[in-house]
Amino acid sequence: MTEQEFILKKYKSSADAGSFTWQAPSNIALVKYWGKKENQIPANPSVSFTLNNCKTITTLEYKRKDKVSDDFDFEVFFEGEKKDDFKPKIKTFFKRIEQYCPFLKEYQFIVRSENTFPHSSGIASSASGMSALALCVMSLEKEISGEVSEDQFNKKASFLARLGSGSACRSVTGSPVVWGAHPKIEGSSDLFGTEYPGKLHKVFEDYQDTILLVDKGEKKVSSTLGHNLMHDHPFAEARFTQANANLEKLIPVFESGDLEKFIEITESEALSLHAMMMSSTPYFILMKPNTLEIINKIWEFREKTGLPVSFTLDAGANVHVLYPERDKSAILDFIKNELVVYCQNGHYICDLVGKGAKKL
Ligand code: DP6
Repeated sequence: MTEQEFILKKYKSSADAGSFTWQAPSNIALVKYWGKKENQIPANPSVSFTLNNCKTITTLEYKRKDKVSDDFDFEVFFEGEKKDDFKPKIKTFFKRIEQYCPFLKEYQFIVRSENTFPHSSGIASSASGMSALALCVMSLEKEISGEVSEDQFNKKASFLARLGSGSACRSVTGSPVVWGAHPKIEGSSDLFGTEYPGKLHKVFEDYQDTILLVDKGEKKVSSTLGHNLMHDHPFAEARFTQANANLEKLIPVFESGDLEKFIEITESEALSLHAMMMSSTPYFILMKPNTLEIINKIWEFREKTGLPVSFTLDAGANVHVLYPERDKSAILDFIKNELVVYCQNGHYICDLVGKGAKKL
């Protein structure tokens, strides 16, 4: 598909006033997106597990105006409070998607949003937030344009979400979701995320992700800035080649459920992501001492017990502890007894693989 195919050309009817509510989940990348080209095109393909419990719930209230305005007309409320500081990000999003959704300036909007996880947890809400908003915009578009298949709806929602925040395009459908064209993955595209089309072992259907909140502070380096540092990065090409290769290596692993290989590939991805940050100009470190303590404890525990517990990281200090549901009891005990002590105020969130966004 090309970008042109996402432009809404025909209006069937006009929707006067109403509202739509969507809940969209967060996701955790197994092969990381780090580095992008113009228009939110990823420098390499990535794949993620869609999560189940960490979600954003967004309501878009719309009212048709008598006169089309020159600018976007909207207010934002987060957890019941008016949030003017959230407006620039949403305005940028509206600007980027306007050519695909030309009706936006005909409406007055109120965006009301809340997260199921604490906003100050250091968990990025941009993926779930942008996905939920994109889905609301798509519901309005469907109202205006008439029939659209579920597949088309999800594709365009993911396409729009990507323009808000790259990883958000992986937060529309169920798990795993691939974003970025890869020759070995049918239907994969740089423009939107797609549900992994290959065979998936049942161990990955309810894989667990316990998020250890090591540092709940605001991110010191935004993802957007980090992505930009890949432009003149000395290891950029090697990194993009590695990500492509790791995604290919995951194909037989997804089918066989070989957790030893799964761990080898995904832990390496997490460390490569942080290695890129440490070797860019300017360089930076997002891990904290407790991040490393946790990683070492996981390695020791895995060595001692043989249980397939592993970690992955986002662009921050928090640690995502990944493990199969069948070992949940032993691994949760280990987390509570040995890892929670490294979390800020002992906070952690139990999550697992989920099935994607839902209209409420
Ligand atoms: C480290 O999607 O937050 O989580 O496109 O600039 O909004 P923007 O970046 P964003 O980057 C996420 C990077 C990551 C890896 C990943 O999720 O693949």
